[in-house]
Amino acid sequence: MIFQECDWQEVAAEGMVTLRTMGGLFLVTQGKGGYPNVMTIGWLTTGIVWGRPVAVVLVRPSRYSHTLLEETPYFSVNVPVETMQRELDLCGRCSGRDTDKFTQCGFTSLSIEGMPIPVIQECRAFLVCEVIQKTRVEPTAFSSPVLAEFYPQDDFHSVYFGVIKRAGRK
Ligand SMILES: Cc1cc2nc3c(=O)[nH]c(=O)nc-3n(C[C@H](O)[C@H](O)[C@H](O)COP(=O)(O)O)c2cc1C
Repeated sequence: MIFQECDWQEVAAEGMVTLRTMGGLFLVTQGKGGYPNVMTIGWLTTGIVWGRPVAVVLVRPSRYSHTLLEETPYFSVNVPVETMQRELDLCGRCSGRDTDKFTQCGFTSLSIEGMPIPVIQECRAFLVCEVIQKTRVEPTAFSSPVLAEFYPQDDFHSVYFGVIKRAGRK
C-alpha cells in the first residue's frame, strides 16, 4: 500500500498548510468516459455537516471538471508535494477538454477500493468524497465587493458538499 489510511483531519490539516505555502491542491474527477481529469483548486473547506465529515469545493460551471462532477458525483482532493508547483500551474491553466493533464504532469492514477474515482499516486495525501449536496452561490446574497472581484462574467460557482469516504497519506 503506497498510502496509509488515516484520519481525514490529518489530511485536512496538511491541505490547509499546503494551500498557504503552495497556493493550490489537486481536484480529481472522472466522468462516464472513464478517464480522470485533474484541476487546481485554491479553495477547500472541511468539517462536520449533517453529522458527517465533509469536504466542500467550489467549481465554476465553465470548468470541464464541472461537467465530470455532474456525471459522476465523486471527487478526490490530492495534496501536492513541494516539487509540484509546475503541475499546479499547468492544471490551473489548461482544460481537460483538450489536454490530458495526467499524462502532461506524469501523474499515475491510483484506484481506491470501492471508489469510482482515483487519486494521484505521486501526491502526499488524499481525501475521496461522495457528493451528497450541491448548490449554487446566490448572486443576490453577496456583499458587492466580492461580487465585483470574483464574478465579472457571472460564472457563479457550484458548491459541492462531499462526504469524506476515504483518507490516506504517505
Ligand atoms: C491557484 C489556482 C486555484 C484555482 N482554484 C479554483 C477553484 O477553487 N475553483 C475553480 O472553479 N477554478 C479554480 N481554478 C481554475 C481552474 O483550475 C482552471 O480553470 C482549470 O484550467 C480548469 O480545468 P478543467 O477545465 O480541466 O476542469 C484555480 C486556478 C489556480 C491557478
